[in-house]
Amino acid sequence: MTTTVNDTSTLHLSNSPNISEFSPEQNVKLYNFHPPVDDFRAEVIQGLSKSQKTISPKFLYDKKGAELFDAICKLDEYYITRTEMAILQTYAREIAQLIGDGVLVEFGSGSSQKVRIILDAKPRLRTYIALDISHQHLYESCTNLVEDYPQLEAIAICADYTQPLQLPDIPSLHNKYKVGFFPGSSIGNLEPKASLKFLKNIANLLQCNGSFIVGVDLKKSKEILEPAYDDSEGVSAAFALNLLTRINRELGADFDQKNFAYQAVYNPIGRIEMSLVSLREQIVHIDDTKFKFEKGEKLCTEHSYKYTITEFQALAAQAGFKPQCVWTDPEELFSLHYLKVI
Ligand code: AVI
Repeated sequence: MTTTVNDTSTLHLSNSPNISEFSPEQNVKLYNFHPPVDDFRAEVIQGLSKSQKTISPKFLYDKKGAELFDAICKLDEYYITRTEMAILQTYAREIAQLIGDGVLVEFGSGSSQKVRIILDAKPRLRTYIALDISHQHLYESCTNLVEDYPQLEAIAICADYTQPLQLPDIPSLHNKYKVGFFPGSSIGNLEPKASLKFLKNIANLLQCNGSFIVGVDLKKSKEILEPAYDDSEGVSAAFALNLLTRINRELGADFDQKNFAYQAVYNPIGRIEMSLVSLREQIVHIDDTKFKFEKGEKLCTEHSYKYTITEFQALAAQAGFKPQCVWTDPEELFSLHYLKVI
């Protein structure tokens, strides 16, 4: 059962609507700061009006999108998830020690699978804060987690964590050392300027003495990268195309999926470029606004930046972190960085 509480005097997230929910018997508190639907409409219209049509990848994750992303993570071609899980498993005890009696704060927690590796190595962890944009996914994941780890208090915050925010002012966080956790290389989905801004926000949220464990995919050959983002089963394509279904459903648009083909190309500047290519000249409507697509025109759905270890450490240092150590897999496909807020 979920209860809604109207007293928000203790909430300290900026731009927050007045909703807070909790499920006392399950030890999960949910703070809902999901941006209103108008933000989605305004951002989509703005993105489709650009000369390079673009929609922010944060909108890929409605319920269906989150499920499709989970399916991507299980694909053979998508080495990222299993490689990062293996790194976490190898270094779990070391990571558990570094967390000490701190509070773990996960950004983009999704199905909260990776944190289980840390929890298994640190069964006495008391407080876990999960931030994610997908409300349903977030709540279900936290509920499942506290069922499996009954000592845990989970605080679920539904919010766009790429924006500046502060944590709710609740007693279990007072004077606690905070350890941020951002696995999956989601930092790669931010443009370089935005990733610097994001890292600065995180340093600010974790506060002096806080630390940050962040997964970063490493630069490698396009023969490995391109199939990881355009798999033989077509799951990656379905994930991108689902964005059009979501826009049709939530904004009343008339995208026809058959008129678009998914493409993922590695640009040697260091990023995978994912887009939906218009297969013909066509016009798409959102309300009274018309968007013309030329044949072959691309709607960019996502970039996924890849870094070398040195490049990422330089970025983190610029944002106010001191790199402490980095863990990788034997093939050096992926890196997990441990950083301290200066
Ligand atoms: C969430 N993020 C790290 C994924 C990536 O690898 O850039 C998103 C993704 N998009 C398609 N496949 C994976």
